[in-house]
Amino acid sequence: MKWSQHIIICLIQLVCWTSYNYPVNSLENGLLRQPPMGWLTWQRFRCVTDCQENPDTCISEKLIRTQAQLLVSGGYLAAGYEYIIIDDCWLNKTRAADGSLQPDNQRFPSGIRALSDYVHSLGLKFGIYEDYGTETCAGYPGVLGHLEQDAQTFASWKVDYLKLDGCNADIKDYDTGYPAMENALNATGFPIAYSCSWPAYQEYAKMKPNYSAIAQTCNLWRNWGDIDDSWDSVYSIVQWFGDNQDRLAPFHGPGHWNDPDMIVVGNYGLSPSQSRAQMALWSIMAAPLILSVDLRTISDWARDIILNKNLIAINQDPLGAMGRRILKLDGHVEVWSKSLQNDRTAFVALFPEPYGTPIRMSISLTDLGLGRFDEYDIFETFHGDFLGKYHKSDRYNFTINPSGDVHAFYVESALIKSL
Ligand SMILES: *[C@@H]1O[C@H](CO)[C@@H](O)[C@H](O)[C@H]1NC(C)=O
Ligand SMILES: *[C@@H]1O[C@H](CO)[C@@H](O)[C@H](O)[C@H]1NC(C)=O
Ligand SMILES: *[C@@H]1O[C@H](CO)[C@@H](O)[C@H](O)[C@H]1NC(C)=O
Ligand SMILES: *[C@@H]1O[C@H](CO)[C@@H](O)[C@H](O)[C@H]1NC(C)=O
Repeated sequence: MKWSQHIIICLIQLVCWTSYNYPVNSLENGLLRQPPMGWLTWQRFRCVTDCQENPDTCISEKLIRTQAQLLVSGGYLAAGYEYIIIDDCWLNKTRAADGSLQPDNQRFPSGIRALSDYVHSLGLKFGIYEDYGTETCAGYPGVLGHLEQDAQTFASWKVDYLKLDGCNADIKDYDTGYPAMENALNATGFPIAYSCSWPAYQEYAKMKPNYSAIAQTCNLWRNWGDIDDSWDSVYSIVQWFGDNQDRLAPFHGPGHWNDPDMIVVGNYGLSPSQSRAQMALWSIMAAPLILSVDLRTISDWARDIILNKNLIAINQDPLGAMGRRILKLDGHVEVWSKSLQNDRTAFVALFPEPYGTPIRMSISLTDLGLGRFDEYDIFETFHGDFLGKYHKSDRYNFTINPSGDVHAFYVESALIKSL
């Protein structure tokens, strides 16, 4: 190849690099350079607190220890799922005499520090939930009025990740309250990844969240409603992210992530194809991959989807670009795309609605945004199978099933590969 061609390619790469890495002033605590991966109690175990009636599913140290062991023995930690996070309903309803937070002593008899030490001994990281307001969403004590004290408590428990919800507070106070909690966390000197619900409440209240301020404060933030265990819920979140991607994507990147909420794969609501779809779409969005599933009873097929190496690699790509919806075709199929390092691009074609029969799609490489190079190799994502060599003037044809299935593929330029 001639030098002039090299220079042109370098210039193109530089322009693309800078446009995908919009200069955002962001929180620099060194954490979450890639989207966090882990497991959280909420979607699957909610606020079950009666351990007499529900000894195996109540929010307790026993549940956390059991699921932590399975994260390791089931291969999830090896695949990258490293955080285990307790959501709401772990607290005692009253603070201790000195004003500090304390767990429910029936369900967490060993205390949080001992549980955190146990989790760390397995090679996992430990996360916990609190709320910015006077009370958590389930009515336990919130941090308001105790920010510094609670931050110190979390640091003394070696909490690696704090999810701070926004119930029972004045939404307007978030713009000062969430940064105040970040200052308190920072002042402990202990690195704590900070997950904020700040914009989710503001978006719901039709306020315009200041994503610039949010990215300077939080490592990740929930943007929109809570996910539920159904395809309707998953797809409504996907639609919202697609509709708002131009506002969100510039603030997404290493250390600061938009969060469409948990992976619900392995529970009751999604079919196998809808489960593939959620995992593929969350990978394309470079979303946090936070599972909420009972690892004692998860099916083999759901586990295989969650552990798919190619999807995880796309999600964890070091560029940290948030994928975008680039096409809507025939009123049915939409195509999402995410730029990866080394001039690769990942795509997901999604057929969200019930329809009855698979349909054949034909998309020009130009419409996929491919055209900088003459030749491309296309691979199926789930299995990594080589699907063929394509010229930039070709069309890519595939079949896609309805009712929430995806065709996931990734593309690399034949030219770059030969360099
Ligand atoms: C909650 O804390 C109070 C006061 O510290 C204590 O008396 C009570 O036993 C605790 N209850 C639970 C369920 O932890
Ligand atoms: C506190 O903030 C400073 C400045 O952004 C940063 O360099 C440091 O890593 C932070 N420390 C912790 C523990 O988060
Ligand atoms: C948003 O936050 C940034 C950073 O804190 C600040 O400079 C800017 O003025 C804020 N924008 C608005 C509209 O409040
Ligand atoms: C894709 O389908 C179009 C017709 O829709 C056809 O002209 C083209 O040859 C097909 N491409 C490949 C690579 O099979």
